[in-house]
Amino acid sequence: MSNEGVDKGRRRFLVASTSAVGAVGAVGAAVPFVASWNPSAKAKAAGAPAKADISKLEPGQQMIVEWRGKPVWIVRRTEEAIANLEKLNGTLADPDSARPQQPDYIPKTAARALKPEYAVLTGLCTHLGCSPTYRPEVAPEDLGAEWLGGFFCPCHGSRFDLSGRVYKGVPAPTNLVIPPHSYEGDNIIVIGVDQEKV
Ligand code: FES
Repeated sequence: MSNEGVDKGRRRFLVASTSAVGAVGAVGAAVPFVASWNPSAKAKAAGAPAKADISKLEPGQQMIVEWRGKPVWIVRRTEEAIANLEKLNGTLADPDSARPQQPDYIPKTAARALKPEYAVLTGLCTHLGCSPTYRPEVAPEDLGAEWLGGFFCPCHGSRFDLSGRVYKGVPAPTNLVIPPHSYEGDNIIVIGVDQEKV
């Protein structure tokens, strides 16, 4: 997994949540505003695993935790959203994750997840590192009739599906990165600890 582009881009990214950031992030729906991302010095220095309690995350909601100074998104996908993922394969640049942006224990399926219900993604565009916006709606006016939910990068218009798979013909060259993570029981996701080492 290469994080080089992301690390370079991180200095420039612009959009993030400030309301739901922490070792254990609060639950929030779509992030409604643009703000500077200011990872805490402590988190940057430590690089320690970040635990997210997903017990209160409702279907369709996104939460954001900070890990190594970067936003990590956890999205609880609805059954409809999971079913829609395969439908997008023809419009995506790398639907089968041939250029893996994910740990090798994450299946290269449409869901790109240990559990299809939960997408876990580093929230930085693989173009120049802006933080894309969570857009779970189907066919919103501004994104068009084909949109089945995903992430839209406001900087240069890159589009990703709800698994972080990049669309064809956008500036971002690869799928969003999936950080190393694992489950601790059913309700805790540990970012920064590999699944097989649990
Ligand atoms: S940084 Fe996202 S499209 Fe350029």
